[in-house]
Amino acid sequence: MTLSDDLGRNITYLRVSVTDRCNLQCFYCSSHPQTPEQATQDCAETCRFLPQEELLTDAEILRVVETFAKLGVQKIRLTGGEPLLRPNLSGIVQSISQIPSITDISLTTNGIFLLEQARGLKAAGIRRLNISLDTLQPERYRTITGHDAFQRVWNGILHCLELSFSPVKLNVVMIKGVNDDELIDLAALTLKWPVQVRFIEFMPIGRYTSWNASRHLSCEEMKHRIQQRLGPLTAVAQGRNAGPAEVYALANALGNIGFISPISRHFCATCNRVRLTADGHIRLCLFSDNELDLKAAMRNGISDEELTKLLQDTIRRKPAGLDKSIEGGTETGKTPSCQRRMSTIGG
Ligand code: 5AD
Repeated sequence: MTLSDDLGRNITYLRVSVTDRCNLQCFYCSSHPQTPEQATQDCAETCRFLPQEELLTDAEILRVVETFAKLGVQKIRLTGGEPLLRPNLSGIVQSISQIPSITDISLTTNGIFLLEQARGLKAAGIRRLNISLDTLQPERYRTITGHDAFQRVWNGILHCLELSFSPVKLNVVMIKGVNDDELIDLAALTLKWPVQVRFIEFMPIGRYTSWNASRHLSCEEMKHRIQQRLGPLTAVAQGRNAGPAEVYALANALGNIGFISPISRHFCATCNRVRLTADGHIRLCLFSDNELDLKAAMRNGISDEELTKLLQDTIRRKPAGLDKSIEGGTETGKTPSCQRRMSTIGG
């Protein structure tokens, strides 16, 4: 069975947010109300974290993943919040890795608990890791995330390299005026370490996002600055299911550099993914709040057959692309179309 939408895009990739909890408070991600008026919105938007019963149980997550697997999804990424805060994450990974048609299980983490958990996660079936790291300066790390944890995360990254996770990707959200002065230092990491440094354009996500057009730095501009300082970037060929990053390498580098341009050059036409939010909603597009409440359906006793059909019918309506209001990243003062905060979606 395959899962495709009305535009003929095949859905083979499911991102699963296993918790909205996070042990960092990155200013661009945990977008909480800024004023008392905003704080009167409902709990899903304003509570620091969702109540436990709003999260899917392990069994519910597995049921959703199994249904997607039956429908042709092969690739699963676990996200959060911070997924390493989910109790029994290794158990969830292990169960998913027993589904024969799932060929790839990866994880996106802030890296805080990698020293403790990486070995167990590897044994459970994780091979590919994305670790969020927006700066190499400990003091700036504290400013961005609210926690003095740079060294801990860096040690976690080195630990994962020793454990031979491959690839290890470092996600850098590039924000003009915040960390763009570190573009060269971050790119130069690939000369020394076998990692992929992935520069991601800052996106307007969440009702209280700190995004605005003046903070946007395009991947073209990043590429240009890197080549000026570090020499030519050579394109690295990617497999067919490789995802939206354009990948390049510097001469004599051990690693490579990925560029993800959701704003300046979006990849909606080839989007093959859907998301399961921490509170059990299917999100068809990062930028569309039109979701399906699977948790309610499951808790109301939907049968396996009905669940399969519901997913097929819903996925057909995957939006064509992100809202024109943010395309180009150059317009100012536009309200982002995505109201939900990133910590319940997982990137
Ligand atoms: N724009 C771009 N990337 C973001 N991330 C979180 N919020 C944003 C945003 N507004 C990144 C995180 C993490 C990944 C899951 O998404 O830094 O690496």
